[in-house]
Amino acid sequence: MNKYPSVNRMTDDQRIGIVRDIFATITGRYDFLNRLLSGRRDVAWRKRTVSEMNFFNTHRFLDVATGTGDLALDCARTYPEVQVSGIDFVPEMVSFGQGKVSAEQLKDRVDLQVGDGTDIKHANNSFDVSAIAFGIRNIPDKEKALSEMMRVVVPGGQVMVLELTTPEPGFWRSTYSFYLSGLLPKLTRLFTKNSVAYNYLADSIMNFPTRREFLELMTAVGLKEGRAIPLTFGVCTLYIGIK
Ligand SMILES: C[S@@+](CC[C@H](N)C(=O)[O-])C[C@H]1O[C@@H](n2cnc3c(N)ncnc32)[C@H](O)[C@@H]1O
Repeated sequence: MNKYPSVNRMTDDQRIGIVRDIFATITGRYDFLNRLLSGRRDVAWRKRTVSEMNFFNTHRFLDVATGTGDLALDCARTYPEVQVSGIDFVPEMVSFGQGKVSAEQLKDRVDLQVGDGTDIKHANNSFDVSAIAFGIRNIPDKEKALSEMMRVVVPGGQVMVLELTTPEPGFWRSTYSFYLSGLLPKLTRLFTKNSVAYNYLADSIMNFPTRREFLELMTAVGLKEGRAIPLTFGVCTLYIGIK
């Protein structure tokens, strides 16, 4: 397997290609590795995201970069009246997610399709909420993705971003960077042939905008009332903005 260049040295197209490649090859192990590497915190973080959702008009939710559909499924389980759509640009992830939807007999309310978060094929104002969980980090043009997510929600609707972040300097930050650069590559080598993918993961987390910068980006695309909710000592952040 080729060594990927570091995130800040690759072109946007190179980065998009690498992201597609990574998720197409780790699909079958993705859920397991998520639970393992986050100590099951990823499940709690998605639940928290779903608990902040407000359905008041269309009763529809769009999950961008849905992957294997975890956030989409969580939302459908929590809000039985809501119709859920999910898009992801890696067909392997989408078909794995569709399998989970069928297994839970939620095909009538959860529709997962191949689609790009920077070019969403849904009409303006068609959802109450759009969200992206652990996906925006992988999208070089974050502004475009946020604008698209905003376009498809109704006025007053929510745009939510759940993403891993770097804690403020101090004990937790040191512990976390030790985990990311020391422990995580060793762990992933045990469980996946594509451990290089997880070097990219560590790299992309450390290169993500700070909380303040990301809130500024949300304001720049026109989202109002932006707030950031730190989760688990700031390892993860839930951002919410209103259209
Ligand atoms: C870390 S996974 C997160 C999956 C899921 N949201 C979750 O909570 O587990 C990131 C996903 O983003 C997808 N992705 C990255 N860039 C994308 C884009 N421009 N449009 C759609 N999906 C994208 C990848 O294919 C991958 O499935």
